[in-house]
Amino acid sequence: MSNIENKPLLDKIQDVSFRRGIVFPTADIYGGLAGVFDYGPIGTLMRQKLINFWRDYFVKSEGHYEIEGSLILPPKVFEASGHLAKFCDPLVQCKECKSMFRADKIIEDKIEQNADGLAPKELDEIIAKNKLTCPSCNGAFMNAREFNLMLKTQVGSVEGNVAYLRPETAQNIFINFKRIAHSMRAKLPFGIAQVGKVYRNEISPRQFIIRVREFEQMEVEAFFAEEQLDNPPHFEELADELLPLLTREMQAKGIEKGKDVTVAEAVEKKIIPNAAMGYYLAKEKILFEEVGINPELIRFRHMLPKETPHYSGGNFDLEIKLSIGWTEIVGNAFRQQHDLISHEKHSGTKMAVQHTNGNVIPYVIEPSIGVGRTLYCILESCYRETKDRDWTWFQFPPTISPYDVHVYPLMKKDGLEEKAQEVFEELKGEGFEAVFDTSGKIGKRYARADEIGTPYCVTIDYESLKDETVTIRDRDTMKQIRVELIDLNDVLVLLLSGEYAFDEIEDIISEQQK
Ligand code: ATP
Ligand code: GLY
Repeated sequence: MSNIENKPLLDKIQDVSFRRGIVFPTADIYGGLAGVFDYGPIGTLMRQKLINFWRDYFVKSEGHYEIEGSLILPPKVFEASGHLAKFCDPLVQCKECKSMFRADKIIEDKIEQNADGLAPKELDEIIAKNKLTCPSCNGAFMNAREFNLMLKTQVGSVEGNVAYLRPETAQNIFINFKRIAHSMRAKLPFGIAQVGKVYRNEISPRQFIIRVREFEQMEVEAFFAEEQLDNPPHFEELADELLPLLTREMQAKGIEKGKDVTVAEAVEKKIIPNAAMGYYLAKEKILFEEVGINPELIRFRHMLPKETPHYSGGNFDLEIKLSIGWTEIVGNAFRQQHDLISHEKHSGTKMAVQHTNGNVIPYVIEPSIGVGRTLYCILESCYRETKDRDWTWFQFPPTISPYDVHVYPLMKKDGLEEKAQEVFEELKGEGFEAVFDTSGKIGKRYARADEIGTPYCVTIDYESLKDETVTIRDRDTMKQIRVELIDLNDVLVLLLSGEYAFDEIEDIISEQQK
């Protein structure tokens, strides 16, 4: 019997995540806590793979420095950064049931109009003009007001000793900038990266892990002297990459899909602020493709003036077309010198670093990637309901699949289990993420592997005992090939490289053996 249900894709992904150990509601046994989730064993493996991929591609290969700053910071940091005064969303409350909502999201949901960055008065006018009412009880709304998203806590035993949970990882980087630059004897341009938890007291958390109160960011703050912004390192390597750009003019015409422009052309025509930003946009597109996102669903949207912070020299968000509509997954900001100048002013610490012609305060490009939102996109993009099987499955690329391979004995008798255990241990020893599964019929075990997106299953059967061969089953085609046990390691490496189709692999091996 098919377990495929007819409901919105986001609900299906959420159900599957709860069932298969990807993400769970926090404190579920006590009724939960709105806007926070725990990652289960499968979600944790995927999260680690995503972070490691980003670390290799965005941090190590660029020679950037990675830090791990404190989650709790004193108020002065956020006075300087502007978060205490300005990190707000517009809140509307229902006069009848008292439910609270984000005013701009109510407008976006009900009349599909972008209301990001509008002042409370402007939002009130749109709500009144369109007679928008409470989604819970249909009641009228009170006037909109600004609500600060910072999560406050108290440190130590002294009443009133306030601290804040960081709302972005970026501020640890700016306040440590001088120490890092000195201790690492860093020369401009250089980057400082950080991955970690951040907290925002979102007015109405929703859409599963898309809008939550505790989430993770992978951020790079890339520092450049002004004249280096159009000449970043390695630019030529990515200059011909295509960026699906959605300009402000295209948005005004109601166009929603980005138009492919090479990075070089986007810089030359000044569509994007500088080559340094273009370089990071290209890297993001490559990262998202590598972890399983269909590139056709990606666009880089130039934020409208009302959505752009006053200090920014241009923001281009990477958005992905999900079942719930276009959603921001990466915020890309040209933060200029704003943060370093502001921390210099508030702390009295000089932030300039030595450069060719004396001391300079560098300019900053910031790609800020949400871990949870990226994982959600991967889940949605890789989720499959196909006629060839009764179960739903994930077509994760090996870069992100929680496991590489499952290993099974056909039966739990006649020495098959022992042989399979041996093969499993060997694969683990070679560094494969492997699972050993003996429970239930083999068909059920294949289904369980598909359900968590494991690309290959290795089965040890009676023939294996006679001639030292095993079968490899391909998740995507459900086809099987038989390989010599001695070649298993190499075959799996070739398959997991993603460079060969399953059908080709037997020929490649026999070719190699000639
Ligand atoms: P939004 O407009 O959707 O609230 P934002 O503009 O506030 O997002 P940024 O401040 O640019 O987001 O944060 C950088 C990234 O952090 C986002 O692109 C997103 O991936 C992630 N992020 C931001 N807010 C949340 C949230 N409440 N829950 C999960 N991820 C988030
Ligand atoms: N550091 C970018 C942001 O979180 O807004």
